[in-house]
Amino acid sequence: MIQFLLNRELRTEHALDPNVTVLQYLREHVGKPGTKEGCASGDCGACTVVVGELDGERVRYRTLNSCLTFVSSLHGKQLISVEDLKHQGRLHSVQQAMVDCHGSQCGFCTPGFVMSLFALQKNSTSFDKAETMEALAGNLCRCTGYRPIIDAAEQACCQQQPDQFDAVEAQTVAQLKAIAPRDTAELNSGDKRCLLPLTVADLAELYAANPEARLLAGGTDLALEVTQFHRELPVMIYVGHIESMKRVEVTAEHIEIGAATALSDCYTALAAEYPDFGELLHRFASLQIRNQGTLGGNIGNASPIGDAPPLLIALGAQIVLRKGNDTRSLPIEDYFLDYKVTARQEAEFIEKILVPRAQANQAFRAYKVSKRLDDDISAVCAAFNLRIEDGVVQDVRIAFGGMAAIPKRAAACEAALLGGVCYPAEIERACAALAEDFTPLSDFRASKEYRLLTAQNLLRKFFLELNAPEVETRVTAYV
Ligand SMILES: Cc1cc2nc3c(=O)[nH]c(=O)nc-3n(C[C@H](O)[C@H](O)[C@H](O)COP(=O)(O)OP(=O)(O)OC[C@H]3O[C@@H](n4cnc5c(N)ncnc54)[C@H](O)[C@@H]3O)c2cc1C
Ligand code: FES
Ligand code: FES
Repeated sequence: MIQFLLNRELRTEHALDPNVTVLQYLREHVGKPGTKEGCASGDCGACTVVVGELDGERVRYRTLNSCLTFVSSLHGKQLISVEDLKHQGRLHSVQQAMVDCHGSQCGFCTPGFVMSLFALQKNSTSFDKAETMEALAGNLCRCTGYRPIIDAAEQACCQQQPDQFDAVEAQTVAQLKAIAPRDTAELNSGDKRCLLPLTVADLAELYAANPEARLLAGGTDLALEVTQFHRELPVMIYVGHIESMKRVEVTAEHIEIGAATALSDCYTALAAEYPDFGELLHRFASLQIRNQGTLGGNIGNASPIGDAPPLLIALGAQIVLRKGNDTRSLPIEDYFLDYKVTARQEAEFIEKILVPRAQANQAFRAYKVSKRLDDDISAVCAAFNLRIEDGVVQDVRIAFGGMAAIPKRAAACEAALLGGVCYPAEIERACAALAEDFTPLSDFRASKEYRLLTAQNLLRKFFLELNAPEVETRVTAYV
Protein backbone atom coordinates (compact mmCIF):
# COMPACT_ATOMS: atom_id res chain seq x y z
CA MET A 1 0.00 0.00 0.00
CA ILE A 2 1.25 3.52 -0.77
CA GLN A 3 -0.09 6.89 0.34
CA PHE A 4 0.40 10.34 -1.10
CA LEU A 5 -1.37 13.66 -1.41
CA LEU A 6 -3.07 14.52 -4.68
CA ASN A 7 -2.80 18.23 -4.01
CA ARG A 8 -4.46 18.11 -0.55
CA GLU A 9 -6.48 14.94 -0.96
CA LEU A 10 -5.04 11.81 0.67
CA ARG A 11 -4.80 8.95 -1.80
CA THR A 12 -4.23 5.40 -0.62
CA GLU A 13 -3.46 2.85 -3.32
CA HIS A 14 -3.66 -0.79 -2.30
CA ALA A 15 -3.65 -2.54 -5.65
CA LEU A 16 -2.16 -0.69 -8.56
CA ASP A 17 0.19 -1.91 -11.28
CA PRO A 18 3.62 -0.49 -10.31
CA ASN A 19 4.29 0.04 -14.05
CA VAL A 20 1.68 2.81 -14.09
CA THR A 21 3.27 6.21 -14.59
CA VAL A 22 2.11 9.36 -12.83
CA LEU A 23 0.97 10.66 -16.24
CA GLN A 24 -1.26 7.63 -16.81
CA TYR A 25 -2.49 7.82 -13.25
CA LEU A 26 -3.54 11.45 -13.60
CA ARG A 27 -5.14 11.11 -17.00
CA GLU A 28 -6.66 7.63 -16.82
CA HIS A 29 -7.14 6.81 -13.14
CA VAL A 30 -8.24 10.08 -11.57
CA GLY A 31 -9.61 11.88 -14.63
CA LYS A 32 -7.23 14.83 -14.66
CA PRO A 33 -6.26 15.20 -18.33
CA GLY A 34 -4.69 18.67 -18.02
CA THR A 35 -1.22 17.10 -17.97
CA LYS A 36 -0.30 16.21 -21.54
CA GLU A 37 1.73 13.45 -23.17
CA GLY A 38 4.03 14.69 -25.91
CA CYS A 39 6.86 12.19 -26.19
CA ALA A 40 6.62 9.78 -23.23
CA SER A 41 10.41 9.86 -23.10
CA GLY A 42 11.29 12.86 -20.95
CA ASP A 43 12.20 15.11 -23.86
CA CYS A 44 9.33 17.58 -24.31
CA GLY A 45 8.18 18.60 -20.82
CA ALA A 46 4.44 18.59 -21.73
CA CYS A 47 3.87 16.14 -18.87
CA THR A 48 5.63 18.25 -16.21
CA VAL A 49 4.11 18.07 -12.74
CA VAL A 50 5.34 19.36 -9.41
CA VAL A 51 6.07 17.10 -6.48
CA GLY A 52 6.20 18.47 -2.93
CA GLU A 53 8.42 16.83 -0.33
CA LEU A 54 9.06 17.59 3.31
CA ASP A 55 12.08 19.79 3.89
CA GLY A 56 12.10 20.35 7.66
CA GLU A 57 9.03 22.47 8.39
CA ARG A 58 8.63 23.51 4.76
CA VAL A 59 7.52 21.85 1.57
CA ARG A 60 10.10 21.72 -1.22
CA TYR A 61 8.54 21.85 -4.68
CA ARG A 62 10.27 20.35 -7.70
CA THR A 63 9.31 19.59 -11.27
CA LEU A 64 9.31 16.06 -12.66
CA ASN A 65 8.41 14.45 -15.94
CA SER A 66 5.29 12.50 -15.04
CA CYS A 67 5.73 10.27 -18.11
CA LEU A 68 8.89 8.78 -16.56
CA THR A 69 7.78 8.65 -12.94
CA PHE A 70 6.13 5.53 -11.58
CA VAL A 71 3.29 6.17 -9.14
CA SER A 72 5.07 4.10 -6.48
CA SER A 73 7.71 6.80 -6.09
CA LEU A 74 5.01 9.28 -4.95
CA HIS A 75 4.71 7.42 -1.63
CA GLY A 76 4.83 9.99 1.20
CA LYS A 77 4.87 12.98 -1.17
CA GLN A 78 2.50 15.57 -2.61
CA LEU A 79 1.57 15.60 -6.30
CA ILE A 80 0.45 18.88 -7.83
CA SER A 81 -0.86 18.96 -11.38
CA VAL A 82 -1.97 21.88 -13.52
CA GLU A 83 -5.61 21.47 -12.44
CA ASP A 84 -4.60 22.37 -8.89
CA LEU A 85 -3.34 25.85 -9.70
CA LYS A 86 -6.62 27.64 -10.41
CA HIS A 87 -8.16 28.55 -7.07
CA GLN A 88 -11.58 29.90 -6.16
CA GLY A 89 -12.30 30.62 -9.81
CA ARG A 90 -9.12 32.62 -10.35
CA LEU A 91 -6.09 31.67 -12.38
CA HIS A 92 -2.83 31.21 -10.46
CA SER A 93 -0.43 34.11 -10.98
CA VAL A 94 1.80 31.97 -13.26
CA GLN A 95 -1.21 31.11 -15.43
CA GLN A 96 -2.30 34.76 -15.49
CA ALA A 97 1.22 35.77 -16.51
CA MET A 98 1.10 33.31 -19.45
CA VAL A 99 -2.21 34.90 -20.53
CA ASP A 100 -0.99 38.47 -20.06
CA CYS A 101 2.25 37.85 -21.98
CA HIS A 102 0.65 35.78 -24.77
CA GLY A 103 2.72 32.76 -23.79
CA SER A 104 0.54 30.12 -25.46
CA GLN A 105 -0.82 29.32 -28.91
CA CYS A 106 -1.81 25.68 -29.54
CA GLY A 107 -1.60 25.12 -25.81
CA PHE A 108 -0.29 21.58 -25.90
CA CYS A 109 2.99 22.44 -24.21
CA THR A 110 1.35 25.04 -21.96
CA PRO A 111 0.45 22.90 -18.90
CA GLY A 112 4.09 21.77 -18.72
CA PHE A 113 5.39 25.34 -18.99
CA VAL A 114 2.92 26.49 -16.36
CA MET A 115 4.14 23.82 -13.94
CA SER A 116 7.79 24.68 -14.58
CA LEU A 117 6.98 28.36 -13.98
CA PHE A 118 5.08 27.45 -10.81
CA ALA A 119 8.10 25.57 -9.41
CA LEU A 120 10.40 28.41 -10.51
CA GLN A 121 8.22 30.93 -8.70
CA LYS A 122 8.15 28.75 -5.57
CA ASN A 123 11.95 28.47 -5.54
CA SER A 124 12.93 32.07 -6.28
CA THR A 125 12.43 35.45 -4.70
CA SER A 126 13.07 37.55 -7.80
CA PHE A 127 13.45 37.16 -11.56
CA ASP A 128 16.74 35.74 -12.76
CA LYS A 129 17.14 35.12 -16.48
CA ALA A 130 19.66 32.29 -16.12
CA GLU A 131 17.50 30.50 -13.54
CA THR A 132 14.50 30.92 -15.83
CA MET A 133 16.34 29.46 -18.80
CA GLU A 134 17.40 26.54 -16.66
CA ALA A 135 13.85 25.99 -15.38
CA LEU A 136 12.42 26.02 -18.92
CA ALA A 137 15.16 24.09 -20.75
CA GLY A 138 13.18 20.86 -20.42
CA ASN A 139 10.00 22.32 -21.94
CA LEU A 140 9.65 22.49 -25.70
CA CYS A 141 7.28 24.86 -27.49
CA ARG A 142 7.00 24.80 -31.25
CA CYS A 143 4.31 27.50 -31.70
CA THR A 144 4.70 30.42 -29.37
CA GLY A 145 8.44 30.92 -29.18
CA TYR A 146 10.16 31.43 -25.89
CA ARG A 147 10.29 35.22 -25.54
CA PRO A 148 6.66 35.61 -24.35
CA ILE A 149 7.11 32.64 -22.00
CA ILE A 150 10.24 34.20 -20.51
CA ASP A 151 8.26 37.46 -20.14
CA ALA A 152 5.63 35.44 -18.28
CA ALA A 153 8.35 34.05 -16.01
CA GLU A 154 9.53 37.59 -15.27
CA GLN A 155 6.01 38.75 -14.43
CA ALA A 156 5.32 35.66 -12.31
CA CYS A 157 8.58 35.97 -10.37
CA CYS A 158 8.47 39.76 -9.91
CA GLN A 159 4.83 40.02 -8.89
CA GLN A 160 4.53 36.99 -6.71
CA GLN A 161 1.96 36.99 -3.91
CA PRO A 162 1.35 34.25 -1.36
CA ASP A 163 -0.92 31.69 -3.02
CA GLN A 164 -3.24 28.92 -1.83
CA PHE A 165 -0.27 26.59 -1.33
CA ASP A 166 1.48 29.08 0.96
CA ALA A 167 -1.76 29.63 2.87
CA VAL A 168 -1.98 25.96 3.85
CA GLU A 169 1.71 25.07 3.99
CA ALA A 170 1.64 24.23 7.71
CA GLN A 171 -1.32 21.87 7.16
CA THR A 172 0.43 20.29 4.17
CA VAL A 173 3.54 19.77 6.29
CA ALA A 174 1.38 18.08 8.94
CA GLN A 175 -0.29 15.89 6.29
CA LEU A 176 3.07 14.89 4.83
CA LYS A 177 4.45 14.08 8.29
CA ALA A 178 1.41 11.90 8.95
CA ILE A 179 2.05 9.83 5.81
CA ALA A 180 5.85 9.80 6.05
CA PRO A 181 7.00 6.21 5.34
CA ARG A 182 7.83 4.34 8.53
CA ASP A 183 8.59 0.89 7.21
CA THR A 184 9.12 -0.97 3.95
CA ALA A 185 6.06 -0.45 1.77
CA GLU A 186 4.87 -2.44 -1.22
CA LEU A 187 2.66 -1.60 -4.16
CA ASN A 188 1.40 -4.58 -6.08
CA SER A 189 -1.17 -5.78 -8.52
CA GLY A 190 -1.35 -9.48 -9.36
CA ASP A 191 2.25 -10.69 -9.51
CA LYS A 192 3.72 -7.25 -10.28
CA ARG A 193 5.37 -5.64 -7.30
CA CYS A 194 7.34 -2.60 -6.27
CA LEU A 195 9.05 -2.78 -2.89
CA LEU A 196 9.98 0.45 -1.12
CA PRO A 197 12.59 -0.12 1.63
CA LEU A 198 13.61 2.60 4.07
CA THR A 199 17.12 1.48 5.01
CA VAL A 200 20.18 0.16 3.19
CA ALA A 201 20.02 -3.03 5.27
CA ASP A 202 16.41 -3.61 4.19
CA LEU A 203 17.35 -2.94 0.57
CA ALA A 204 20.19 -5.45 0.78
CA GLU A 205 17.89 -8.06 2.30
CA LEU A 206 15.06 -7.50 -0.17
CA TYR A 207 17.42 -7.55 -3.14
CA ALA A 208 19.01 -10.81 -1.90
CA ALA A 209 15.53 -12.32 -1.64
CA ASN A 210 14.48 -10.94 -5.06
CA PRO A 211 17.65 -10.90 -7.20
CA GLU A 212 15.56 -10.68 -10.38
CA ALA A 213 14.17 -7.29 -9.27
CA ARG A 214 15.07 -4.12 -11.13
CA LEU A 215 16.35 -1.31 -8.94
CA LEU A 216 14.35 1.86 -9.43
CA ALA A 217 15.98 5.17 -8.56
CA GLY A 218 14.74 8.19 -10.56
CA GLY A 219 13.45 5.93 -13.31
CA THR A 220 14.59 8.30 -16.06
CA ASP A 221 16.29 5.38 -17.80
CA LEU A 222 14.31 2.49 -16.42
CA ALA A 223 10.84 3.87 -17.18
CA LEU A 224 11.76 4.11 -20.86
CA GLU A 225 11.65 0.31 -20.98
CA VAL A 226 7.94 0.61 -20.19
CA THR A 227 7.01 3.77 -22.08
CA GLN A 228 9.17 3.30 -25.19
CA PHE A 229 9.74 -0.44 -25.45
CA HIS A 230 6.38 -1.52 -23.99
CA ARG A 231 7.97 -4.03 -21.63
CA GLU A 232 6.66 -4.83 -18.20
CA LEU A 233 8.80 -4.70 -15.09
CA PRO A 234 7.42 -7.42 -12.83
CA VAL A 235 9.50 -6.65 -9.72
CA MET A 236 11.06 -3.33 -8.80
CA ILE A 237 12.80 -2.11 -5.66
CA TYR A 238 12.62 1.66 -5.19
CA VAL A 239 15.75 3.15 -3.57
CA GLY A 240 14.47 6.74 -3.26
CA HIS A 241 13.32 6.48 0.36
CA ILE A 242 16.70 5.45 1.77
CA GLU A 243 17.97 8.60 3.44
CA SER A 244 21.57 7.40 3.85
CA MET A 245 21.74 6.80 0.08
CA LYS A 246 20.58 10.38 -0.60
CA ARG A 247 23.28 12.08 1.46
CA VAL A 248 26.19 14.19 0.23
CA GLU A 249 29.06 14.49 2.68
CA VAL A 250 32.32 16.32 2.17
CA THR A 251 35.17 14.77 4.16
CA ALA A 252 38.88 15.64 4.14
CA GLU A 253 39.52 13.13 1.33
CA HIS A 254 36.27 12.70 -0.53
CA ILE A 255 32.94 14.00 -1.62
CA GLU A 256 30.76 11.02 -0.61
CA ILE A 257 27.57 10.87 -2.61
CA GLY A 258 24.80 8.37 -1.84
CA ALA A 259 23.86 6.53 -5.01
CA ALA A 260 20.21 7.60 -4.75
CA THR A 261 21.08 11.32 -4.62
CA ALA A 262 19.25 13.29 -7.30
CA LEU A 263 21.60 14.95 -9.78
CA SER A 264 20.20 18.36 -8.70
CA ASP A 265 21.33 17.61 -5.15
CA CYS A 266 24.84 16.58 -6.26
CA TYR A 267 25.38 19.97 -7.86
CA THR A 268 26.51 22.17 -4.96
CA ALA A 269 29.29 19.93 -3.66
CA LEU A 270 30.60 18.85 -7.06
CA ALA A 271 30.49 22.34 -8.61
CA ALA A 272 32.28 23.85 -5.60
CA GLU A 273 35.16 21.38 -5.94
CA TYR A 274 35.20 20.98 -9.70
CA PRO A 275 33.48 23.86 -11.55
CA ASP A 276 33.50 21.86 -14.79
CA PHE A 277 31.51 19.09 -13.11
CA GLY A 278 28.96 21.78 -12.24
CA GLU A 279 28.95 22.96 -15.87
CA LEU A 280 28.37 19.43 -17.04
CA LEU A 281 25.47 18.97 -14.63
CA HIS A 282 23.88 22.14 -16.06
CA ARG A 283 24.09 20.48 -19.47
CA PHE A 284 22.81 17.13 -18.18
CA ALA A 285 19.31 16.53 -19.57
CA SER A 286 16.80 19.02 -18.14
CA LEU A 287 15.93 20.28 -14.68
CA GLN A 288 12.99 17.85 -14.52
CA ILE A 289 15.34 14.92 -15.23
CA ARG A 290 18.03 16.16 -12.83
CA ASN A 291 15.43 16.54 -10.06
CA GLN A 292 14.55 12.91 -10.54
CA GLY A 293 17.57 11.10 -12.00
CA THR A 294 20.35 10.04 -9.66
CA LEU A 295 24.12 9.69 -9.84
CA GLY A 296 23.84 5.98 -8.97
CA GLY A 297 21.33 5.50 -11.80
CA ASN A 298 23.68 7.18 -14.26
CA ILE A 299 26.41 4.69 -13.33
CA GLY A 300 24.03 1.74 -12.89
CA ASN A 301 22.61 2.26 -16.36
CA ALA A 302 26.13 1.73 -17.76
CA SER A 303 25.43 3.63 -20.94
CA PRO A 304 28.47 4.38 -23.11
CA ILE A 305 27.12 7.92 -23.44
CA GLY A 306 26.30 8.55 -19.78
CA ASP A 307 27.80 11.90 -18.79
CA ALA A 308 28.96 11.41 -15.21
CA PRO A 309 31.09 8.25 -15.69
CA PRO A 310 33.87 9.81 -17.82
CA LEU A 311 34.25 12.61 -15.28
CA LEU A 312 34.22 10.23 -12.34
CA ILE A 313 36.78 7.98 -14.06
CA ALA A 314 39.09 10.92 -14.77
CA LEU A 315 38.77 12.04 -11.16
CA GLY A 316 39.67 8.57 -9.88
CA ALA A 317 36.33 8.04 -8.11
CA GLN A 318 35.53 4.81 -6.30
CA ILE A 319 32.13 3.21 -5.97
CA VAL A 320 31.04 1.32 -2.90
CA LEU A 321 29.04 -1.78 -3.81
CA ARG A 322 26.96 -3.72 -1.30
CA LYS A 323 25.55 -7.22 -1.35
CA GLY A 324 23.85 -8.48 1.80
CA ASN A 325 26.10 -7.34 4.64
CA ASP A 326 29.24 -7.23 2.49
CA THR A 327 30.59 -4.08 0.91
CA ARG A 328 33.47 -3.65 -1.49
CA SER A 329 35.05 -0.62 -3.06
CA LEU A 330 35.91 -0.51 -6.76
CA PRO A 331 37.61 2.10 -8.94
CA ILE A 332 34.73 3.20 -11.14
CA GLU A 333 36.69 2.48 -14.32
CA ASP A 334 36.71 -1.21 -13.34
CA TYR A 335 32.92 -1.25 -13.05
CA PHE A 336 32.29 -1.04 -16.80
CA LEU A 337 33.30 -4.27 -18.54
CA ASP A 338 31.52 -4.27 -21.90
CA TYR A 339 28.46 -2.74 -23.50
CA LYS A 340 25.94 -2.64 -20.61
CA VAL A 341 27.96 -5.35 -18.82
CA THR A 342 29.27 -4.36 -15.40
CA ALA A 343 31.21 -5.85 -12.51
CA ARG A 344 28.04 -5.75 -10.39
CA GLN A 345 27.15 -9.18 -9.04
CA GLU A 346 23.67 -10.60 -8.59
CA ALA A 347 21.79 -8.73 -5.85
CA GLU A 348 24.63 -6.24 -5.50
CA PHE A 349 23.94 -2.53 -5.68
CA ILE A 350 25.83 0.75 -5.70
CA GLU A 351 25.57 2.28 -2.26
CA LYS A 352 27.71 5.37 -2.69
CA ILE A 353 30.27 7.11 -4.84
CA LEU A 354 33.52 8.54 -3.44
CA VAL A 355 34.94 11.43 -5.43
CA PRO A 356 38.47 12.50 -4.37
CA ARG A 357 38.84 16.12 -3.24
CA ALA A 358 40.73 18.49 -5.52
CA GLN A 359 44.48 18.78 -4.99
CA ALA A 360 47.07 21.47 -5.50
CA ASN A 361 48.44 21.64 -9.06
CA GLN A 362 45.50 19.68 -10.39
CA ALA A 363 43.87 20.75 -13.65
CA PHE A 364 40.46 19.20 -14.26
CA ARG A 365 38.34 20.02 -17.28
CA ALA A 366 35.28 18.38 -18.81
CA TYR A 367 33.57 18.94 -22.15
CA LYS A 368 30.26 17.71 -23.51
CA VAL A 369 29.59 17.86 -27.24
CA SER A 370 25.97 17.41 -28.28
CA LYS A 371 23.74 18.72 -31.02
CA ARG A 372 21.74 20.93 -28.66
CA LEU A 373 23.02 22.82 -25.65
CA ASP A 374 20.19 21.74 -23.34
CA ASP A 375 18.46 18.44 -22.81
CA ASP A 376 20.56 16.42 -25.22
CA ILE A 377 22.71 13.32 -24.93
CA SER A 378 26.47 13.57 -25.65
CA ALA A 379 28.00 12.59 -28.95
CA VAL A 380 31.34 12.83 -27.11
CA CYS A 381 32.04 13.62 -23.48
CA ALA A 382 35.65 14.18 -22.41
CA ALA A 383 37.27 14.62 -19.02
CA PHE A 384 40.91 15.58 -18.46
CA ASN A 385 42.60 15.48 -15.09
CA LEU A 386 46.30 16.35 -14.90
CA ARG A 387 48.64 17.08 -12.03
CA ILE A 388 51.43 19.30 -13.26
CA GLU A 389 54.38 20.18 -11.02
CA ASP A 390 57.28 22.38 -12.12
CA GLY A 391 55.87 22.18 -15.62
CA VAL A 392 56.04 18.39 -15.74
CA VAL A 393 52.98 16.14 -15.99
CA GLN A 394 53.19 14.03 -12.83
CA ASP A 395 49.83 12.35 -13.12
CA VAL A 396 47.28 12.11 -15.89
CA ARG A 397 43.81 10.59 -16.14
CA ILE A 398 41.80 11.08 -19.30
CA ALA A 399 38.43 9.47 -19.99
CA PHE A 400 35.84 9.66 -22.73
CA GLY A 401 32.20 8.80 -23.20
CA GLY A 402 30.72 8.13 -26.64
CA MET A 403 34.00 6.75 -27.98
CA ALA A 404 33.62 3.05 -27.12
CA ALA A 405 31.11 0.52 -25.83
CA ILE A 406 31.85 1.73 -22.30
CA PRO A 407 33.06 4.98 -20.74
CA LYS A 408 36.81 4.41 -20.86
CA ARG A 409 40.25 5.78 -20.04
CA ALA A 410 42.54 6.82 -22.90
CA ALA A 411 45.60 4.78 -21.88
CA ALA A 412 47.84 5.50 -24.91
CA CYS A 413 47.01 9.20 -24.81
CA GLU A 414 47.81 9.33 -21.09
CA ALA A 415 51.13 7.54 -21.68
CA ALA A 416 52.04 10.09 -24.34
CA LEU A 417 51.58 12.92 -21.85
CA LEU A 418 52.93 11.44 -18.62
CA GLY A 419 56.32 12.86 -17.65
CA GLY A 420 56.21 15.39 -20.48
CA VAL A 421 56.11 19.15 -20.42
CA CYS A 422 53.06 19.66 -22.67
CA TYR A 423 54.97 21.00 -25.67
CA PRO A 424 52.86 21.25 -28.82
CA ALA A 425 54.62 18.22 -30.36
CA GLU A 426 53.80 16.14 -27.29
CA ILE A 427 50.19 17.23 -27.39
CA GLU A 428 49.98 16.25 -31.06
CA ARG A 429 51.48 12.84 -30.23
CA ALA A 430 48.83 12.45 -27.52
CA CYS A 431 46.12 13.40 -30.03
CA ALA A 432 47.41 10.77 -32.46
CA ALA A 433 47.44 8.21 -29.64
CA LEU A 434 43.68 8.65 -29.21
CA ALA A 435 43.29 6.73 -32.47
CA GLU A 436 45.01 3.77 -30.74
CA ASP A 437 42.75 4.09 -27.72
CA PHE A 438 39.42 4.25 -29.50
CA THR A 439 37.62 2.91 -32.57
CA PRO A 440 34.36 4.83 -32.23
CA LEU A 441 31.12 3.90 -33.97
CA SER A 442 28.92 5.94 -36.29
CA ASP A 443 25.32 6.47 -35.24
CA PHE A 444 22.63 9.13 -35.54
CA ARG A 445 24.46 11.36 -33.07
CA ALA A 446 27.80 11.46 -34.88
CA SER A 447 29.99 9.62 -37.36
CA LYS A 448 33.08 7.73 -36.19
CA GLU A 449 35.33 10.27 -37.95
CA TYR A 450 33.56 13.17 -36.23
CA ARG A 451 33.90 11.47 -32.85
CA LEU A 452 37.64 10.86 -33.17
CA LEU A 453 38.38 14.32 -34.53
CA THR A 454 36.24 15.89 -31.79
CA ALA A 455 38.08 13.92 -29.10
CA GLN A 456 41.41 15.11 -30.48
CA ASN A 457 40.23 18.70 -30.74
CA LEU A 458 38.93 18.61 -27.18
CA LEU A 459 42.40 17.57 -26.02
CA ARG A 460 43.89 20.52 -27.94
CA LYS A 461 41.22 22.82 -26.48
CA PHE A 462 42.06 21.61 -22.97
CA PHE A 463 45.71 22.59 -23.36
CA LEU A 464 44.83 25.91 -25.01
CA GLU A 465 42.56 26.71 -22.09
CA LEU A 466 45.23 25.75 -19.58
CA ASN A 467 47.39 28.43 -21.12
CA ALA A 468 44.66 31.07 -21.01
CA PRO A 469 45.44 33.69 -18.33
CA GLU A 470 42.15 33.27 -16.44
CA VAL A 471 42.84 29.57 -16.11
CA GLU A 472 46.32 29.99 -14.68
CA THR A 473 44.84 30.96 -11.32
CA ARG A 474 43.30 27.49 -11.14
CA VAL A 475 46.38 25.61 -12.35
CA THR A 476 48.98 27.04 -10.07
CA ALA A 477 52.15 25.34 -11.30
CA TYR A 478 51.41 25.06 -15.00
CA VAL A 479 53.85 26.81 -17.34
C1 LIG B 1 15.15 13.14 -21.78
C2 LIG B 1 16.35 12.50 -21.17
C3 LIG B 1 17.55 13.16 -21.21
C4 LIG B 1 18.68 12.57 -20.66
N1 LIG B 1 19.85 13.25 -20.74
C5 LIG B 1 20.96 12.70 -20.21
C6 LIG B 1 22.19 13.39 -20.27
O1 LIG B 1 22.27 14.53 -20.74
N2 LIG B 1 23.29 12.75 -19.79
C7 LIG B 1 23.23 11.50 -19.24
O2 LIG B 1 24.25 10.96 -18.82
N3 LIG B 1 22.07 10.84 -19.14
C8 LIG B 1 20.94 11.41 -19.61
N4 LIG B 1 19.75 10.73 -19.51
C9 LIG B 1 19.72 9.41 -18.88
C10 LIG B 1 19.29 9.40 -17.38
O3 LIG B 1 18.56 10.53 -17.03
C11 LIG B 1 20.51 9.28 -16.48
O4 LIG B 1 21.24 8.13 -16.80
C12 LIG B 1 20.14 9.25 -14.98
O5 LIG B 1 21.24 9.54 -14.20
C13 LIG B 1 19.57 7.90 -14.56
O6 LIG B 1 19.31 7.95 -13.18
P1 LIG B 1 17.95 7.38 -12.58
O7 LIG B 1 18.02 7.58 -11.13
O8 LIG B 1 16.78 7.96 -13.27
O9 LIG B 1 18.11 5.84 -12.96
P2 LIG B 1 17.01 4.72 -13.12
O10 LIG B 1 16.31 4.88 -14.40
O11 LIG B 1 16.18 4.58 -11.90
O12 LIG B 1 18.00 3.46 -13.23
C14 LIG B 1 18.89 3.30 -14.31
C15 LIG B 1 19.57 1.93 -14.21
O13 LIG B 1 20.45 1.90 -13.10
C16 LIG B 1 20.06 0.89 -12.18
N5 LIG B 1 20.27 1.43 -10.83
C17 LIG B 1 19.65 2.48 -10.26
N6 LIG B 1 20.15 2.69 -9.03
C18 LIG B 1 21.10 1.76 -8.84
C19 LIG B 1 21.98 1.46 -7.74
N7 LIG B 1 21.98 2.16 -6.61
N8 LIG B 1 22.83 0.42 -7.89
C20 LIG B 1 22.85 -0.30 -9.04
N9 LIG B 1 22.05 -0.08 -10.10
C21 LIG B 1 21.19 0.95 -9.99
C22 LIG B 1 18.60 0.60 -12.49
O14 LIG B 1 18.22 -0.68 -12.10
C23 LIG B 1 18.58 0.79 -13.99
O15 LIG B 1 19.04 -0.35 -14.64
C24 LIG B 1 18.60 11.31 -20.03
C25 LIG B 1 17.37 10.64 -19.97
C26 LIG B 1 16.25 11.22 -20.52
C27 LIG B 1 14.94 10.51 -20.43
S1 FES C 1 5.58 13.51 -22.36
FE1 FES C 1 7.32 14.52 -23.15
S2 FES C 1 8.54 14.75 -21.36
FE2 FES C 1 6.91 13.54 -20.69
S1 FES D 1 1.90 26.61 -27.74
FE1 FES D 1 1.98 25.02 -29.17
S2 FES D 1 3.72 23.88 -28.69
FE2 FES D 1 3.75 25.54 -27.34
